[in-house]
Amino acid sequence: MSKMLNLKVVAVEAETADAVTIHLKPPFMRKLDYLAGQYLSLEFDAAGTPQRRAYSLSSTPGLDRHLSITVKRVDGGLVSARLVEQLTAGDRVRSLGTSGRFVLAQGARHLVMLAGGSGITPIFSIIKQALHFELDSRITLIYCNRNRQSVIFADKLDQLAARYPGRLQVIHLFSRPEDGSAGARLCQERAMELLAPLNGEHTHYYLCGPAGMMQQAREALRSLQVADNRVHLENFVAPVKPAAAPTGLASQVHLHLQGREYSFAVSPGQTILEAALAQGVEPPFSCRSGFCTACVCTRLTGEVEMAEGHGLSPAELKMGQALMCVGYPKTAEVRLTVD
Ligand code: FES
Repeated sequence: MSKMLNLKVVAVEAETADAVTIHLKPPFMRKLDYLAGQYLSLEFDAAGTPQRRAYSLSSTPGLDRHLSITVKRVDGGLVSARLVEQLTAGDRVRSLGTSGRFVLAQGARHLVMLAGGSGITPIFSIIKQALHFELDSRITLIYCNRNRQSVIFADKLDQLAARYPGRLQVIHLFSRPEDGSAGARLCQERAMELLAPLNGEHTHYYLCGPAGMMQQAREALRSLQVADNRVHLENFVAPVKPAAAPTGLASQVHLHLQGREYSFAVSPGQTILEAALAQGVEPPFSCRSGFCTACVCTRLTGEVEMAEGHGLSPAELKMGQALMCVGYPKTAEVRLTVD
């Protein structure tokens, strides 16, 4: 992750009654590189304490002039309420850089994308990338919302479908349509019905939305025997902490970071990131919830147990990767590297 940058708010664009797109610009002569589908990490002061949040980028590099995040106000979310209701052009926000692995896979020709609510944000970025730069790709988007009024990017998706005929199909599912007609939710049966005819050798699946929707879609894909490396997940609900502390022993973690080795104790029930920060070690991190993968490290020795629902793929886990913000040492000694 790159160093802290002050980004200027260029414009705030309303998308729905409770979602806005915030267009941002780095300082003169500075550039913020990113891939379609990644997060932007921001830091805010709340009650005198710096709070970090990761927001998916809805802009697409090489295509959109500004860096843009799309934010939906969440119930009880102080930071999202501030962004949606108070931010205006000319304001500045502190950025810690971009990260994330929810990006376009090589060789993906047919992209089947399932989005729920604001889960459309990274998917919208990837859709534009595929349509503009991957000329032999086509996309099927299954987009779940309460009703037409709550659809983020409704007009923009219609415009893309018209501009790229035959390459973008959007299937809307509304759980509570305005006209009072029967609602449609993505249950497992419906997911099977929609996904089965789309399955093919070069089909890749991108899922981002509420936990229930993700679960139903994953079950359907398992039933269709779709290989894990063709399923790309972006979670935005907090991972579930292991029921019991993974080890009754305090663990000693040795962390190789930026050419230095740090050793610190981790108490049972404490994450590796919590222990590192408590002892003045500051590895890269942002969301602290297992979504953004900014705190990824590689395990050299020892075992780490992670909360369920984190942002690493089975292939990355097999390579020994772990997320420090939702990772608990499982052995008395663990050796990790972030380099
Ligand atoms: S800080 Fe975001 S996944 Fe760990």
